[in-house]
Amino acid sequence: MEPRAFSAFSFWLALILAGLLGIHITGSFVRSQKNHTLIFTKENAIRNCSCSVDIRDCDYCLANLMCNCKTVLPSTIEKTTYKSHLTIWFTDTSVLEMLLNFTKVWDLKLSFCGTTPLPTEYLAIWGLRKLRVNKVKGRFPEQSVIIHSSNNNENEDLLAVHNKDRQMLAYISFLDTSLFNGYSLLKSYSVDNVSSITEHFPSLLYSDVFSTSDNKSYVVTFIY
Ligand SMILES: *[C@@H]1O[C@H](CO)[C@@H](O)[C@H](O)[C@H]1NC(C)=O
Ligand SMILES: *[C@@H]1O[C@H](CO)[C@@H](O)[C@H](O)[C@H]1NC(C)=O
Ligand SMILES: *[C@@H]1O[C@H](CO)[C@@H](O)[C@H](O)[C@H]1NC(C)=O
Ligand SMILES: *[C@@H]1O[C@H](CO)[C@@H](O)[C@H](O)[C@H]1NC(C)=O
Ligand SMILES: *[C@@H]1O[C@H](CO)[C@@H](O)[C@H](O)[C@H]1NC(C)=O
Repeated sequence: MEPRAFSAFSFWLALILAGLLGIHITGSFVRSQKNHTLIFTKENAIRNCSCSVDIRDCDYCLANLMCNCKTVLPSTIEKTTYKSHLTIWFTDTSVLEMLLNFTKVWDLKLSFCGTTPLPTEYLAIWGLRKLRVNKVKGRFPEQSVIIHSSNNNENEDLLAVHNKDRQMLAYISFLDTSLFNGYSLLKSYSVDNVSSITEHFPSLLYSDVFSTSDNKSYVVTFIY
């Protein structure tokens, strides 16, 4: 090889390598900015993880390896607000209820990793905008539903949304846990401008939770 040809070759090689390296550094930089929360339950243990990469559903070993996980004691679980993407892998409704019932989550993914069919129960979730669902260990394609899109940035209070009349708008979704049994299309149905959830939906039997005189306009969504 001619010396000049060689130096041109190594120049391009260096450029290509630098390009690859640059892309790699940018890639991991972007990903490290976007850690998301993954909570999974396995044999009565609950693990709360911060992951920088997407982990295949129900791959507990990989999650323990790749994410930064902590064990959570059921007695310490509080109703929290999740301001970034939350993924939950679950096997039964009791733990899902502990983790999710009456929490505020706007971007949620639920993956069912169990084998025993789930009963029909309703989980109440505040402020839900987007839900992704993976049924029966990924044997069916993932499905998603957008409940509402909001221009609010994620730092704003999920409940402090106002409509044109400056009335407080509160989004609440009721998720039927039996939707994870077998394959059916994920559906949602919303009712706008509900002033009293207890009066509109007496069969929900959550009267202890919703006050009737809080001067809010609810958008009530059923996911089934
Ligand atoms: C899981 O961890 C996040 C922070 O990474 C925290 O905000 C959330 O409350 C935790 N959830 C549970 C159920 O421990
Ligand atoms: C992001 O997740 C990685 C593990 O996947 C962890 O090492 C890192 O501490 C996390 N960063 C934050 C800010 O939680
Ligand atoms: C969610 O909480 C409400 C009110 O405490 C309760 O009536 C309901 O049974 C809970 N849902 C589930 C699925 O446990
Ligand atoms: C919402 O409901 C209230 C009564 O509950 C009614 O006065 C108002 O006109 C309704 N608003 C819209 C936009 O439908
Ligand atoms: C409900 O809120 C609106 C706007 O904040 C206010 O104008 C109205 O007086 C309130 N009504 C009641 C019954 O508190």
